[in-house]
Amino acid sequence: MFRFEKVTNEQITRIECPGTEKHYKITRPAGFPNSAPANIRNGCERHSVMIEAFLPLLEEIRNFEVLEDDVWVITFPKCGTTWTQEMVWLLNNNLNFERAKKISLEERFPFLELTGALTLIGGDSVGHVRSQPRPRHIKSHLPAMLLPDQVWTVKPKIVYVSRNTKDAATSFYHHYRNIVGYDGSKEHFFDAFLSDNLIYAPFSGHVADYWQLRDEENMLFITYEQMKHDLRKVIEKVSSFLGKSYSEQEIEVLENHLSVESMRANDSCNMQTLVEWARNTNYSEERKNNESNKFRFIRSGDVGSYRNDMSPDFVHRFNEYEKCITNDCGWKLGL
Ligand code: A3P
Repeated sequence: MFRFEKVTNEQITRIECPGTEKHYKITRPAGFPNSAPANIRNGCERHSVMIEAFLPLLEEIRNFEVLEDDVWVITFPKCGTTWTQEMVWLLNNNLNFERAKKISLEERFPFLELTGALTLIGGDSVGHVRSQPRPRHIKSHLPAMLLPDQVWTVKPKIVYVSRNTKDAATSFYHHYRNIVGYDGSKEHFFDAFLSDNLIYAPFSGHVADYWQLRDEENMLFITYEQMKHDLRKVIEKVSSFLGKSYSEQEIEVLENHLSVESMRANDSCNMQTLVEWARNTNYSEERKNNESNKFRFIRSGDVGSYRNDMSPDFVHRFNEYEKCITNDCGWKLGL
């Protein structure tokens, strides 16, 4: 069913740090089960890079029982997952702001493969999701090839969020540095991103497969840039996708709740607990002692912030990388 190959090149060795160790390339020779839609080129091989901690979860997730009222938010990391989760959960829970405030987003909308995505996190994230009360809200960064087989037959609602590659990579660099414990250079990180030597890589294949699925009835494909450009329109789209109906006034309240400033100040969804866990667990002693922790999970919250971090040379290389995706998809990233 799957082939495994330890990735041992120099780039990956330099990426490895406390939160992300021992990378494997997982290949699924048949790509997808027969029950998957034909337009994701059934039969073609797919692969994804994951870390060793994910391997015990692979079959458990493939055999995971999917329920028809499950609601998934799936993204490549750093494409607006948290933002979308908060929107989807509220829309699917009659805008219950009070409950959303009391229970953290991580509890309300757990991360399926968390145990296999961050080396030192521990626990049983798949079991935790399994035992959620219905309707379950499930976060995942898995590429389509690693989703549970029942996703293709039970067809739960899935919202996929994409983002332009340069901002996604820049945000991922800051995440690696501040959550995963990476102390290497920015340039090396961008190189690794472009050569698909990171967890969940390749970015290109991740987006391309979900793009192919965009017309499935149970699938909604949106982008971070659309949310920044016209959040209200996206809220309305997601609401109707979930079969919900809200007044203009209610939507306006939600729109304000989802602003960068409001979410940053909201301890229920600003992921500050994760930032603090990472600081205590993954930071080198030197950084623990010398650096005041200014990082906020909800960081720039903007489109184009890559300009503060990426040299013109990398901008050019990322543009070329994007061209390969868009030529393949016939779609312009980010719009
Ligand atoms: P930046 O690092 O570019 O600021 P994820 O949730 O998938 O990890 O994505 C994190 C990215 O989404 C971060 O991007 C974060 O700032 C941004 N984000 C989170 N909440 C947001 C909001 N309410 N409005 C805009 N961007 C938001």
